[in-house]
Amino acid sequence: MSINPNRKRELWNSKTGLILAMAGNAIGLGNFLRFPVQAAENGGGAFMIPYIISFFIIGIPIMWIEWAMGRYGGSKGHGTTPSIFALFWNHPAAKVIGVLGLWIPLIVSIYYIYIESWALGYSLHFLLGSSPEIVSGNVTNVDSYVKPFSDFLGTYVGSGDSVFLRPSSMAYIAFALTVVINFVILLKGISRGIEIFVKFALPTLFILSIILLVRVLTLETPHGNAIEGLNFLWTPDFQALKNPHVWIAAAGQMFFTLSLGFGAIITYASYIKHNQDITLSALTSATVNETVEVVIGGSIAIPAAVAFFGITGAVAIAQSGAFNLGFISVPAIFAAMPFGNFFGFLWFFLLFIAGLTSSVAITQPVIAFFQDEFFYTRIKSIVLTYIIILISVLMVIFVDKTIDEWDFWAGTIGLVVLGLFEIIIFMWIFGGDKAWEEINRHGLIKVPKIFYYIMRYVTPVFLLLLISFWGYDFLPKILNQSSWNIWVSRLYILGLFIFLTFLVFKSDAKRRKI
Ligand code: ALA
Repeated sequence: MSINPNRKRELWNSKTGLILAMAGNAIGLGNFLRFPVQAAENGGGAFMIPYIISFFIIGIPIMWIEWAMGRYGGSKGHGTTPSIFALFWNHPAAKVIGVLGLWIPLIVSIYYIYIESWALGYSLHFLLGSSPEIVSGNVTNVDSYVKPFSDFLGTYVGSGDSVFLRPSSMAYIAFALTVVINFVILLKGISRGIEIFVKFALPTLFILSIILLVRVLTLETPHGNAIEGLNFLWTPDFQALKNPHVWIAAAGQMFFTLSLGFGAIITYASYIKHNQDITLSALTSATVNETVEVVIGGSIAIPAAVAFFGITGAVAIAQSGAFNLGFISVPAIFAAMPFGNFFGFLWFFLLFIAGLTSSVAITQPVIAFFQDEFFYTRIKSIVLTYIIILISVLMVIFVDKTIDEWDFWAGTIGLVVLGLFEIIIFMWIFGGDKAWEEINRHGLIKVPKIFYYIMRYVTPVFLLLLISFWGYDFLPKILNQSSWNIWVSRLYILGLFIFLTFLVFKSDAKRRKI
């Protein structure tokens, strides 16, 4: 019998484990792949000011809110947003809005695990010496220099002239391995699986990044050096503050990198003891993520690309596609160095480990939902979650443009919309004073009062402005895309939303019967 309504929820074992798990939740492909692309695309230093401001008006405030909502929900036996929102707002709409906190992490985890598996596949190619060879020499034309690697990526994912993709055999092998590794970690549970895993993974990640950082920062070519790349990132451009696109990019990156609006922080926070600090721990894990992002994430891909291709070349690469910097240019650069296979392997293994610490986190909400709301055992919940993921991943693996679509709806707009709902439900409907007390309860530091006003007024107004601008500027262009595969991928995720809503109301009915 797998139903056990009296089961005790799991808890994090130690404070260090909790902070490392939360930092691992945040540190992911976003830090090493997405951040450099966003920063380069949006003018380097021009991006950094809105980005830093976003940390204070989006990152830290929503981080505290999500930790507080999660800890509160966990103490009442719930780890996911449909039920947690309903604790703060006794209205059926709370449940429907809460479905977003299952839908977003589910969709992102589907394509995220696949991209994470590319990193594993690439690291194996470098280890086995089966990646393209580049003869080092003068870079006269960026395109011809990176061509072997762009062809390599094309073959790996199987893109051609049809909308149906035909991945290479390594893509299948690496994906299967990635699924098994994720599955095994999750199967062991919160404290014996995820917590033990991050205690090894995070130090490994730091060591790999430091080796790569030193290698990149000592790069010098006839076209430039890595330090010019750092200058590009760190020379502020105040003009850019007037550009809404840069603000949207910076805010979007803040959500993605901190795993905010994913439901994933809320679920992890639901495993915190009800009388344990969250104010200092949340701040620490957010700060660790940002340090890794700007200090390490910002000092590998961009400086390497600037050293090889100059600033204009690096910007053009970032603008040419989300994966071109990390999966085409950086490996091409490493391949041209002495011990290129070794550095290429390190780079992709770093991406893989970073991806892994996040993918287990973004899969956890749906697993927790089955455990908490249907009282299923852990294994049953994980198997069900993976059945949904493995069926859905077929769209990602075989239908071109699915990743872009799902990343736009769930991994970009979805995060901001859910973040806004969290603020409205917690800071307004539940009530500002009660929410403030809940955040600070048992806190090792007291959150400065200014954040009360930021959380209640500044952040929601800012998010509303972002969503309105998005609607006005991007939506018409997006909806105008008419190719059938794009519409199929959209309908698929709409179907997933309906399916999850059905499950939420079904679990409610089941709970009432028990
Ligand atoms: N926060 C995770 C990342 O940056 C999702 O990849």
